[in-house]
Amino acid sequence: MKKIYITRKLPAEIIDKLSKQFKITMWEEENIPVSREVLLNEIKDVEGLFCMLTDSIDKEVLDQAQKLKVISTLAVGYNNIDIKKAKNRGITVTNTPGVLTETTADLTFALLMATARRVVEASDFLRSGEWGAWSPMELTGQDIYGATIGIVGMGRIGEALVRRAKGFDMKVLYHNRTRKPEKEAEFGVQYAELKELLQQSDYVCLLLPYSPEVHYLIGKEELSLMKKTAILINTARGGIVNEDALYHALKNREIWAAGLDVFEQEPIPLDHPLLTLPNVVTLPHIGSASVKTRMTMAHLVADNIINVLNGEEPITPVKL
Ligand code: GLV
Ligand code: GLV
Repeated sequence: MKKIYITRKLPAEIIDKLSKQFKITMWEEENIPVSREVLLNEIKDVEGLFCMLTDSIDKEVLDQAQKLKVISTLAVGYNNIDIKKAKNRGITVTNTPGVLTETTADLTFALLMATARRVVEASDFLRSGEWGAWSPMELTGQDIYGATIGIVGMGRIGEALVRRAKGFDMKVLYHNRTRKPEKEAEFGVQYAELKELLQQSDYVCLLLPYSPEVHYLIGKEELSLMKKTAILINTARGGIVNEDALYHALKNREIWAAGLDVFEQEPIPLDHPLLTLPNVVTLPHIGSASVKTRMTMAHLVADNIINVLNGEEPITPVKL
């Protein structure tokens, strides 16, 4: 029997499926990522790896992985994996595109709305024993309907976000590495250079994959172009936004607020300055976290491993 290593405790349904065909070793913790030491040891002996975005599958890991044929990650983003090195070694890498698109767009819009209308701040206010005096400007936020949303990264999730924005009568600008005229016609969205998008949008939503080329795409200068009333939403990856610059822009009220599901360092350290600001809504990277979607993703990860180790084509390979 071929061997696979699973880097996090999975639901029984997924384990059952995989254990019919493979000898499984699994990190038995649900809430703690596998340690580097354990991963480096376990990887030596296996043909398949079922991993999380919290696992760094870098040169050091791959050098240990002499039998490895497939790395299957439970995420659409794969910036934690050295895919060039994997490819050179003939290892197939698979991810989970498509199946988390709508769920992640839902969360992006939820975060946008929560940030705009200060939902978390207002809830904390009430729970701290306050109600306020219903004074006219108390806990006032920004309108969503009819506002301009600027989407940076028009992939599947970007498109799904457009459909939500259209339901709120929003004007949609987008920026993407390559312009997509067919989408402009289909959705009635308008292409903009990044600078223009930052200047004109009430909401700037980041939905592009992380790569070194987009490191700190949003820094001091970019934030200074945004409206004072604008809101930044990042449900893509930490590292796209310079958090130090963002902190200062928020603190100095150069922009209105930010909603963040992803951070430069995850978990974000509890003493991080961003966590001291009232105008920031923070989530622990839960974009795709619905019961149904996470189960679908896990099945897709398993099916990719099954296919590759049986000599068939992977369903959703990462292409270099
Ligand atoms: C989550 O961030 C993912 O890449 O799927
Ligand atoms: C992810 O699925 C994307 O292409 O946006």
